[in-house]
Amino acid sequence: MFSFFKKKDAHVAINYEPIWVDMHSHVLPGIDDGARNVEDSIVLIDKMMELGIKKIIATPHIMADYYKNTAETINNSLEILKAELKERNIDIEIEAAAEHYYDETFDARINDHKLMTMGDNYVLFEFSFISMPPNAVGAILRMKELGYKPILAHPERYPYMDIEQLRNMRDWGCMLQINTISLTGYFGKDAKKMAESLVDNELVDFISSDMHHLKHAEAFKTALKLPHVIKLLSNYPLKNIMLK
Ligand SMILES: [Fe+2]
Repeated sequence: MFSFFKKKDAHVAINYEPIWVDMHSHVLPGIDDGARNVEDSIVLIDKMMELGIKKIIATPHIMADYYKNTAETINNSLEILKAELKERNIDIEIEAAAEHYYDETFDARINDHKLMTMGDNYVLFEFSFISMPPNAVGAILRMKELGYKPILAHPERYPYMDIEQLRNMRDWGCMLQINTISLTGYFGKDAKKMAESLVDNELVDFISSDMHHLKHAEAFKTALKLPHVIKLLSNYPLKNIMLK
């Protein structure tokens, strides 16, 4: 009995170190709906480091209507943050890519080779939360044709997609990244259920925080106690480590 409890405690103490890299977050200061300034950035980064993250790839939104970020605005913000981290002697590897919103400008960004990528040409992109974008498969195939490796952000959060559609999307060559905080129920019951199904069906390629603010940081910590997250961190073919 005693050893059973001991084993259970060991599971609770698990952290995100096995994935090494958090590749979806909004910790760059002042350029989207995440960190408002460097103070916010430092608080969020500190939380991620506390939970075992060793490298951060920040992914500010690029949205034609709301966040008109470009490589220039993103890299400027990254440099400001890096200077502040150095000033405070905070030792964390940090890079930047983007979370590309699938809007009417996305096709042009693909064709003009203007996508901000991470690692070996990986592209993180997201859909609308309301309706399926037209010709998503076409965009995925075009990205692949041009040498990009597409990753769909938080597939569990699109209520108009079922598990078979997501499986098909993956078969077309689009990898899937879930937010571990979805497994806590943070985004509602349906997103939680879909995240669990994706884990159970071994359809998850990457996991990350999608950290915007402190509430996400708290949920990111709470998630560590969940069986699905323990499974993801213990014995699961995740690809985060390829971005090390
Ligand atoms: Fe995001």
